[in-house]
Amino acid sequence: MAYETIIVAIEDHVATITLNRPDALNALSQKLLKELAQAMEEADASDKVRCIVLTGSEKAFAAGADITEMADQSFVDIYTSAFFEPETTRFNRTRKPIIAAVSGYALGGGCELAMMCDFIIASDTAKFGQPEINLGVIAGIGGTQRLTRFVGKSKAMDMNLTGRMMDAEEAERSGLVSRVVPANKLLQEAKDAASKIAEKSLLASMAAKDAVNRSYETTLAEGLNYERRMFQALFATEDQKEGMAAFREKREANFRDR
Ligand code: HXC
Repeated sequence: MAYETIIVAIEDHVATITLNRPDALNALSQKLLKELAQAMEEADASDKVRCIVLTGSEKAFAAGADITEMADQSFVDIYTSAFFEPETTRFNRTRKPIIAAVSGYALGGGCELAMMCDFIIASDTAKFGQPEINLGVIAGIGGTQRLTRFVGKSKAMDMNLTGRMMDAEEAERSGLVSRVVPANKLLQEAKDAASKIAEKSLLASMAAKDAVNRSYETTLAEGLNYERRMFQALFATEDQKEGMAAFREKREANFRDR
């Protein structure tokens, strides 16, 4: 499907979705949010896709909600905005793994979008922030909640109250991003990670994602119980037999998602 504000490319079982509003540093407009939700849904449903990479430009992953579009909105406009439609946060529910490849600014809704992905690989130029306080509002799609779980209360308060930016080095040190790479290697690094994931059994990838996410939603005892049941359930799959047979036979596993 043709999109105006994003670009979607599928190669070797990896869907790369690129935010593409260069004139506005990939600010998240209603149209972009709708197109992104649609692309995520298509990628999740496609047999050709086993992992998703979400990225922006070198200068900006996304500089936040489109302030021009938002500035004069009424309560009703914002209440009914695409930001809060289940489809927008749908990629919380996308079962295939999603990697955010972040270069440049990831601010406000841009930072929140990156945090909705399963993990973040950052370029050494990345800058994260929740500057909504400068606009007389606060974060609206996870900047006070997900960020706090990533980096702890003190840093989350600092970011949300001062509106300052966090550079890539601080973001890695704080646990917001999983790795930092030079800007010119970012996309390749993210695609390589995605290709690696795409080689695994999709059943196991989806189960791993589901179980890690469960740790945010439940107690340790319940989470461990969930993990144990998922582990045991995977013994009902052909991929478990294949994975372990391949190890014993010293060969590559050929997973078939069964
Ligand atoms: C609309 C934006 C934009 C945004 C940048 N632009 N950010 N347009 N919404 N969020 C536009 C600028 O107006 C400008 O357009 C062009 O992109 C280039 O931006 P500059 O400001 O000229 O670039 P630079 O000087 O390099 O500064 C980069 C920047 C700055 C530091 C990222 O643009 C900035 O502070 N942007 C706003 C960041 C922000 O406050 N984000 C939070 C938004 S609220 P023109 O036409 O002038 O060239 C939010 C809420 C989320 O995200 C919750 C939703 C529910």
